[in-house]
Amino acid sequence: QLWHVGRMSHPDFHGGELPHAPSAINPHSKSFTPEGFKDTETPKEMTIEEIKQTILDYKKAAENAMRAGFDGVEIHSSNGYLLHQFFNRTSNVRTDEYGGSIENRARILFEVIDTIKEVMPENRIGLRLNPSLHGIFGMTMDEETIPTFDYIIEKLNQYNLAYLHLSEPFNDISEIPYAEKEIAKRYRPIYKGTLIINAGFDQERGNQFILEGLADAVAYGKPFISNPDLVERFAENAPLAEWDQATFYTPGEKGYTDYPKLSVSKLV
Ligand SMILES: Cc1cc2nc3c(=O)[nH]c(=O)nc-3n(C[C@H](O)[C@H](O)[C@H](O)COP(=O)(O)O)c2cc1C
Repeated sequence: QLWHVGRMSHPDFHGGELPHAPSAINPHSKSFTPEGFKDTETPKEMTIEEIKQTILDYKKAAENAMRAGFDGVEIHSSNGYLLHQFFNRTSNVRTDEYGGSIENRARILFEVIDTIKEVMPENRIGLRLNPSLHGIFGMTMDEETIPTFDYIIEKLNQYNLAYLHLSEPFNDISEIPYAEKEIAKRYRPIYKGTLIINAGFDQERGNQFILEGLADAVAYGKPFISNPDLVERFAENAPLAEWDQATFYTPGEKGYTDYPKLSVSKLV
């Protein structure tokens, strides 16, 4: 996964320099540093030159992934990180070719895909989007947010990507007038390629989505953290182990590689 966090970083990671973002707007969120969570700061607005260099960094990262033997890369254009910060008007108030219109705010994503295409086949490139992200990771939706994702997802049909990985809303957005509450329902008819859906699924709801043709596959996050053998447990209708949120972002093996498989937990 190729992941540039933009303004969600912290000067502690950059020798005291400010993180880079489309605009100098503080997400008023938290960044996880080696010393724990710290308040984010107002980032530095990227120059055109810095944007072009960042696009080339994605190419380099994809090249490195191929050299290291990976089958493909996933572009992390989701969850309030750099590319997502370009999409939304509330995090991108630029007046050059990377801001203003929907097309301009989406431009960097397509330039990133086009440059990665130079070093690997399109069908080795996957991509994540989280259209209805509001009120977390510093992201705020407005009336142009969903139309921007409509434009992006329609345009992705021009590529033969490995997959598009979408998230249903991460939190309760029922009060947000411009939010799309049913992401797969809206975008399955629009996107012609392989569609993966995520966020908040259990086995039953996942199967239901596949059955109804709302997605080709379902991605599980937190259930996989506490169940390294999640697939086998689903197959056997076995009970799932609960995850421990307190260890999600802590260093060391605890809560990371120490959740037992079912066969082991049966013995204990
Ligand atoms: C501890 C933790 C780490 C995560 N790291 C990433 C990450 O590196 N990249 C990413 O795209 N999503 C990451 N996510 C988000 C998950 O991929 C997923 O979208 C989210 O957990 C919602 O799906 P779920 O309800 O199945 O957990 C992370 C989630 C958690 C809880």
